Amino acid sequence: MDNIRNGRFKTGMTDEAAEYTSSLEFDKIIFEADIKTNFAHTLMLKKQNIIDSDIANNILGALDQLKEEGYDELIFDPSVEDIHMAIENYVTSKIGSEAGFMHTAKSRNDQVACDVRLVLRDKITEIQIGILEFIEGLVEFAGNHLEDVFIGFTHLQHAQPITIAHHLMAHVQSLKRDYERLEDTYKRVNLNPLGSAAMATTSFPIDRQLTTDLLGFDAYLENSMDGVSARDFICETTFDLVSLCTTLSKICEELILWSTYEFGVIEMADEYSSTSSIMPQKKNPDVAELARAKCTIVNGELVTILTILKAIPYTYNRDLQEITPHLWNAVSVTQDTLSIVTKMLLSVEFNVERCAKLAGKNFATATDLADIMVREKKIPFRIAHKIVGRIVNEATANNLSEDDITSRFIDDIACSLGFEKLELDDNLLQNALNPIENVKIRSVVGGPAPEMVEIARNNIKLFLNEEFEKKGI
Ligand code: ARG
Repeated sequence: MDNIRNGRFKTGMTDEAAEYTSSLEFDKIIFEADIKTNFAHTLMLKKQNIIDSDIANNILGALDQLKEEGYDELIFDPSVEDIHMAIENYVTSKIGSEAGFMHTAKSRNDQVACDVRLVLRDKITEIQIGILEFIEGLVEFAGNHLEDVFIGFTHLQHAQPITIAHHLMAHVQSLKRDYERLEDTYKRVNLNPLGSAAMATTSFPIDRQLTTDLLGFDAYLENSMDGVSARDFICETTFDLVSLCTTLSKICEELILWSTYEFGVIEMADEYSSTSSIMPQKKNPDVAELARAKCTIVNGELVTILTILKAIPYTYNRDLQEITPHLWNAVSVTQDTLSIVTKMLLSVEFNVERCAKLAGKNFATATDLADIMVREKKIPFRIAHKIVGRIVNEATANNLSEDDITSRFIDDIACSLGFEKLELDDNLLQNALNPIENVKIRSVVGGPAPEMVEIARNNIKLFLNEEFEKKGI
């Protein structure tokens, strides 16, 4: 097959150089997009009378045939640098040298940018749908645990009682933002670089709006130099994936901790667990551990992409080719991880009794004890904080538990600190120390009270309906 080097050079590249510079290995993913791009461009050339109608029809026919036959029909001889050349060669093999008109007013520079944007917008949508499905599962899961109290942590130390539902719904909010970030990024991905040609457009009277419409882009990129070299849409998408993977990795981290004997608050499904080759009793959270590790790959890809980009002068430089495999790897790791973490978390079983027991232990309800002093006795929160802090200190030193905190005990401590007796009602006291009551009383928006979590669930259901509809589901 005649190739693009024959004019300028008398020899081909060495095999080693050809292999080193080839993008074929990772171009497969843009195969269908490249046919679409060529198709839209050729239609436009025909409509603008830039190329002869019959020739255009022959090109379009050959492209259609290739679409039918698929990637395996391409011939990869050593002259083929990338998928663009392989497709052009295919069209040439079908209709002869007239195929060369297909490349009028087009460069591989605008073509590859166009192809990557076409594929990426679909990948973004697929990932977004995955996120919506995860959210949907979590909202349902939370519905089964609205009243089941659980312990919330700060610094990984007992903090305050919450419910299992409230915790699951926290992940929902994080996932929702990951979804929305992708939604916003999509706007900057779905722009048409075609017509920028190598970097300075063309003298042919092309119609950029037509290819924009044919390819379903929202608009065309207004500057041809920017059109061929902008890759911030890739950085941005990869960052969005890093953010999503951070959410997923944190979920995995919790599952790993929670499934330990020491925490004992969940049971992972056997389907997502492994055992040991020597210790027969082991149930290991290997899937969660690997997901946690794989998320790191996406961070690495973002750094690689940013680092390749940072020292590239305008406009197209071959370095840009090296960016795309990192993007596709980030996409594929994210897709696989999102899918498995969704199934793994939704198959977890909470040990509801253990969760409730932990929620009432280790003075996790102490904040409410301070709050009732403020509410009932009108003392400043800082003084209440001091008294309760000392109560916990004394109780811990004397091996006492929450049940031993009586009104008298409190008053002894208050007096020892130089404050007046509080004479709190013992019933009120027990209510304040009870984790279930503790959760119920936190009925402000965003709080763990069951009716508040129910409101949050309903809001998310509305969001899901709207977004699923937008995505045609
Ligand atoms: N494989 C190349 C890439 O991914 C296509 C563009 C080649 N352009 C060039 N001037 N050599 O960027």
